[in-house]
Amino acid sequence: MENMISCQRNLFNIPDEIVYLNTAYISPLSLKVEKAINKGCKLETQPWKIDPEFHFFHQIKETKIIFSNLFNISYKNVSLIPSASYGISTAANNIKLTKTKKKILILKDQFPSNVYPWMELSKKQEGVLEIIDELNETTLTEEIINKISEEVAVVAIPNIRWTDGYIIDLKKVSNTCKKFDVNLILDLTQSAGAMQIDLKEINPDFAIIANYKWMLGPYSTGFLYISDKFIDGVPLEETWIGRKNSQDFSKLTDYQSLYNSDSIRFDMGQRANFSLLPGVKAALEQLHDWSIKKIENTLYQNNMIICKGLSDLGFEILAEKNRAPHFISARLPRYDGDSLINNLKKNKIFISERSGYLRITPHLWNNEEDFFKLINCLKSLIY
Ligand SMILES: Cc1ncc(COP(=O)(O)O)c(C=O)c1O
Repeated sequence: MENMISCQRNLFNIPDEIVYLNTAYISPLSLKVEKAINKGCKLETQPWKIDPEFHFFHQIKETKIIFSNLFNISYKNVSLIPSASYGISTAANNIKLTKTKKKILILKDQFPSNVYPWMELSKKQEGVLEIIDELNETTLTEEIINKISEEVAVVAIPNIRWTDGYIIDLKKVSNTCKKFDVNLILDLTQSAGAMQIDLKEINPDFAIIANYKWMLGPYSTGFLYISDKFIDGVPLEETWIGRKNSQDFSKLTDYQSLYNSDSIRFDMGQRANFSLLPGVKAALEQLHDWSIKKIENTLYQNNMIICKGLSDLGFEILAEKNRAPHFISARLPRYDGDSLINNLKKNKIFISERSGYLRITPHLWNNEEDFFKLINCLKSLIY
């Protein structure tokens, strides 16, 4: 079918009997990414081959350019970070609360990396952390928008809720934030790579992505988008490469008070990451080759098959209008999630449980056989 990608299992190291439906936990690295990392690792066994210009600078710029093309922004607004918590902490360090503008809005059950930095900021600057939940008669997007006012300094939210895949309309939230001069900070870790995201259009103040889920990249790597409004802000670390003239290794002790150009000051220490960075780049190239829009369409269509099977078994699933295309959550009020997950595991079927939901998150390595194995196994366990 047009706009669909056929099963890509042959690009991954997944044995036939394994049914891995847990991208929201950790994605497997593809064979191409593994090869790129191994090549990077080999380089570290022969450091005389590390080229200052290429490995400390050029390779990073190339990687940022591929990332920025996927999200419709300039590479000059992109930094390399090791984790979502690092990115959110960077954003939080650049926010000044005032007596009249001191509220920070977050979601109930939000991932902790996007909660603790805000708890600390409210403590230090006497802010007020307000927690949003959806009500039966409204959507999460409407609830967020209803809570935005002149008193709000920050809205720190994801694109989809990590426990159940409930989707938020970021463009609408952003429009309201702009009206009330509110900083919008996004954690896109559970959507970037699986949903088409146009950061130019959404126009957040900061956006953060950990790579090891839908971006299909290695653990301990990620990206931070910094808007022009904050590009001259304070980094989390004072790195040597973040300072002016760091390209000239012979003059590093001519300490500089000025930073290097654009987003470089926000790059994590040891950003050159000789082993993992080639893997990050290979994963981005793969996303580009498949096209994120096509990944989104394919995962959406495939998930319809699973949702139908789950509904037939009596599971409660989110209404289609509130559900992210790549994410399924299912609830059986009368069943113990833990034992269900463990029994599935015994049958080599891997999913997660989060806050009372079974979280089922397939990707392009899955095929229809995997989906039927899951449904049949669930059927045998609950009846
Ligand atoms: C929404 C979300 N953000 C971030 C992360 C990872 O955060 P960190 O990179 O700080 O470990 C996860 C992991 O499950 C997540 O679900």
